[in-house]
Amino acid sequence: MLKSVSRILKENNNQCHPEFACAERSRSIQGSFNMTNIKNVGIIGAGTMGSGIAQVAATAGCNVKLFDLKQEALDKAKSSLEKIMNRLVEKGRITSEEQHRIQENISYVSSLKELEDSNMTIEAIVENLEVKQKVFQELEGYVDDDCIIASNTSSLSIASIAASLKKPERCVGIHFFNPAPLMKLVEVIPAIQTSDATLKISEETIKNWGKVVAVAKDTPGFIVNRVARPFYGEALRIYEEGIADFETIDRAMKEVGGFRMGPFELMDFIGNDVNYTVTETVFAAFYFDPRYKPAFTQKRFSEAGYLGRKSGRGYYQYDAQGKIISRHAELDSASHKKEFSTEIFERILVMLINEAADALFLNIASAKDIDNAMTKGVNYPKGLLAWADEKGMDWCVEKMDALYNLYHEDRYRCSPLLRRMREKNQSFFK
Ligand SMILES: NC(=O)c1ccc[n+]([C@@H]2O[C@H](COP(=O)([O-])OP(=O)(O)OC[C@H]3O[C@@H](n4cnc5c(N)ncnc54)[C@H](O)[C@@H]3O)[C@@H](O)[C@H]2O)c1
Repeated sequence: MLKSVSRILKENNNQCHPEFACAERSRSIQGSFNMTNIKNVGIIGAGTMGSGIAQVAATAGCNVKLFDLKQEALDKAKSSLEKIMNRLVEKGRITSEEQHRIQENISYVSSLKELEDSNMTIEAIVENLEVKQKVFQELEGYVDDDCIIASNTSSLSIASIAASLKKPERCVGIHFFNPAPLMKLVEVIPAIQTSDATLKISEETIKNWGKVVAVAKDTPGFIVNRVARPFYGEALRIYEEGIADFETIDRAMKEVGGFRMGPFELMDFIGNDVNYTVTETVFAAFYFDPRYKPAFTQKRFSEAGYLGRKSGRGYYQYDAQGKIISRHAELDSASHKKEFSTEIFERILVMLINEAADALFLNIASAKDIDNAMTKGVNYPKGLLAWADEKGMDWCVEKMDALYNLYHEDRYRCSPLLRRMREKNQSFFK
């Protein structure tokens, strides 16, 4: 059951999120919000993400209205949900009564006005600020004053979306991962305008839906799409320098690091076009910080149409079932190869740790949320900050400094937090 706003505020000693100027906000929350439960949920956009989010909310017992401009999208969402539900019943994961209940919980609507009785709406339409702002403005004219209006955007600022509303304090980012019903993590992103009550109710609701919440600051890439950049970027750099081929790098990350997929396999899985665009967007959004610089290799692969699994060819070649068909002969497991693999793995790992530490240094999220985001959102074998503790601050700082001394590139600058923690002999969790 969701807690009332007054209880939430009481638990927080009537304090708002410390990052923001809050006295003002606290007053306006109590004045305008009195919601104790999120029962009616409106989802805008019935594509990949919207239909998955609708399934999550309906499974949790909410009355969901799924809206799309296109009737085909609604029909497709309905039939694919039915298939998913049938499969879950066949596998014994849910009963047919539950299937019936979940499907009954979703109605498919073709006008935005039909979302008027929503307590919360989550938008998952095209990634275009102007289009989103227009939809939000229209929606605000239909829903009650205490309806939370959320966006599932991956790359736009929540502040810019919220700015389109008369009551921007009701706007928040609720960022699911694909596929939404399977991925445990949801990033919840308050904009500078977001009220503390909106944030708390959103967090509680998403937790009630069975998800792990990581609260992130409204900055490019939020947590996962920021902290994960070196996994791809440093792997591409190692390849571009001619240090190792795709397969050797992938094997190092899997066999030494315990990652489920290597960077090149993962880029092929995500799609080189999609992954490249995220990198380019994050790079531009960080005012071209060299740490996020995209790689020509990936750009050329994208331009050539070597998109990965979906096009049958990326860094690897795939058969019709999406299985890799061009593997090199088994790599020699002689000790010098192992050392080589360890060197590759450690270089990528320390860059990831550095990024995670810098995200904490800049208050993007708490240490716990940063680690949860990477283990629950992208299945990393360990949280990066816990990994830093294991390796020790000396190791982290020395590795980063060695890279910097070798290249003299800003990309390899060590996070001030790691340096400070080493001086003070501190760890993240121990
Ligand atoms: N696909 C992912 O892996 C992923 C992951 C996390 C977040 N996101 C974000 O989620 C959002 C949706 O992504 P997606 O992959 O589900 O897109 P999608 O293309 O699969 O679906 C978008 C749907 O929105 C509908 N639509 C477009 N404009 C509309 C409007 N004005 N009103 C109503 N419906 C409209 C389209 O008809 C389509 O059915 C984007 O903001 C994206 O950045 C995507």
